[in-house]
Amino acid sequence: MLVALGLIGCKKSEPASGGELYAGACARCHGADGSGGAPSFTGAPAPRNFRDHDFQRARSDEQLKMTIRNGKGSGMPAFGVAFSDAELAALVAQLRSFDAERK
Ligand code: HEC
Repeated sequence: MLVALGLIGCKKSEPASGGELYAGACARCHGADGSGGAPSFTGAPAPRNFRDHDFQRARSDEQLKMTIRNGKGSGMPAFGVAFSDAELAALVAQLRSFDAERK
């Protein structure tokens, strides 16, 4: 959480892109290519694979934003107000870009 806030807090002339936000805050669990990863500890759920087309179809953009804000289960951290609405939208676009069967 603090790591994410530190990342977002650093001053840049350009707002961070979805790719940069993802690389900084999400890739360590969900993989640089979005394919997911190993559970953080034994018995924890595996980080979601964003290349899975069925998963992408099953979630609305709003649902994805809610998960980033509020977390999910024991494995997905809640980022709370770490991201602005624009940053959340950029992250959702980044997640969508991983969909292997995106039309
Ligand atoms: C500490 C590891 C970790 C980090 C960091 C992390 N996630 Fe997750 N994430 C998980 C795990 C584990 C799950 C699966 C949770 C479950 O299904 O119970 C998950 C699930 C998800 C889901 C799917 C929720 C659903 O509807 O099933 C989304 C979307 C998601 N993460 C987005 C993100 C984004 C965006 C970031 C970066 C801002 C991020 N995650 C950072 C571990 C992580």
